[in-house]
Amino acid sequence: MSLPDFVSQLDALVSEAEQSFADAQSAEQLEAARIEFLGAKAGRLKAVQKLLGSVAAGDKPAAGKRLNEVKSAIESAFQAASERLENVVEEVCDETFDATLPGTSWTTGRIHPITQTILLLKDIMGRLGFTPVEGPEIEDSWHNFDALNVPTIHPARDPLDNFYLASAQLWGNGSSGGADMLRSQTSTVQIRTMQQRQPPLRIISLGRVYRPDTADETHYPMFHQMEGLMVDRGVTMSDLKTVLRLFATAYLGNSVPVRFRPSFFPFTEPSVEVDYYWNGRWVEFGGAGMVDPNVFQAVGYDPEQVTGFAFGLGVERLCMIRHGIRDIRDLYTNDVRFLAQF
Ligand code: DAH
Repeated sequence: MSLPDFVSQLDALVSEAEQSFADAQSAEQLEAARIEFLGAKAGRLKAVQKLLGSVAAGDKPAAGKRLNEVKSAIESAFQAASERLENVVEEVCDETFDATLPGTSWTTGRIHPITQTILLLKDIMGRLGFTPVEGPEIEDSWHNFDALNVPTIHPARDPLDNFYLASAQLWGNGSSGGADMLRSQTSTVQIRTMQQRQPPLRIISLGRVYRPDTADETHYPMFHQMEGLMVDRGVTMSDLKTVLRLFATAYLGNSVPVRFRPSFFPFTEPSVEVDYYWNGRWVEFGGAGMVDPNVFQAVGYDPEQVTGFAFGLGVERLCMIRHGIRDIRDLYTNDVRFLAQF
C-alpha cells in the first residue's frame, strides 16, 4: 500500500471515530463506539494498523508516526466523550416534578463516633477470633464484685464510687442475684459468659459502664469499655501481649509500641496496666492480666485445667486518641456541629 493511501485511510478513520464518540448519547453507545474503533482485537484502528506491513520500507517511519498521531487523537476523543457523559445530569421526566419550587435541604444522620469506634473494635477483634457477647447494664453485686474476687471490704465497692439502686440499699447487696447497681465495669460479662459456656473461650464485650465521677475533660459518669477474655489450656501472658499488640497495630497503625506496667486487680494475677506509645508519649488504655484462679472457681472452671487472660480498655480514650478529641464531654453534649465531623 502506498503512503498516501495509508494516510488517507487513517484520516478517514479519525474523523469517523470523532463523529461517533461525539454522537454517543449514553455510556452504552459510547462503549459500542469504543469497541468499534479502539477494540483490541477487531477494532478498526487495529485493522488499519495491520496494513502498515504492506507500506514500502522507506515510507514506514512516516506511516508509523501518522498512525501514532491518529491513535492518540482517537483516544482523546473517546476521553472527552466519556467526561461529557459523566457530567450529564439525568433529565427529570416526572411530570409531577416542579423545578421552580424552592428546594428542601436534606441532612442525613450519621453514626455516633463512639458507635463507629465500637464497630471498628469488633471488626478488629473479630479478625483475631474474638466473638462479641452482651451483658446487662443493671447488675447484681455478685457479678460486679464477688465473683470477680473483689473482697467485701474493698474500696471499689464504696457507695461513693458506684451507682447502687435504691432497692439494693433496702435489701442489702449480698449475692442475691437481684438488681443492685449500674455495672461499674464490663468485667461482669466475663463472669456471665463463663457461667453459660465451657472453655475454650475467646470473647469481647463492648458496652456502657457507670461511675459517679464529676464530668471533666477526661471523666464522665457513663463511659464504655471493651472487655476481652480468652480461656483455654496453656494460655499465657505472651498471648495477652500478642493480642494487645496486634490490636494496637490494627487500631492505631503500624509499630505502635505496647508497654505493660505491673499493677493490681482483684480478678487477675499477675495484673498489668496497658500503655500504648502514641504521639511521643505513653498513654494508658486500661488494665489486663491473667485470670485469677478464684474467678475460675466462682464460675465452676477448674484452674488446674485452664488458664486465661483478660483485659479492659476504655473505648472513649481509644476514640479520642484516634480523632484528636480533647474533651470527653464533647462526645455527649449532642452538638451536631461536633458530631457531624465524624
Ligand atoms: N475492670 C477494670 C476497670 O474497670 C479493667 C480491667 C482490668 C479489666 C484488668 C480486666 C482486667 O479484664 O483483666 O478498671
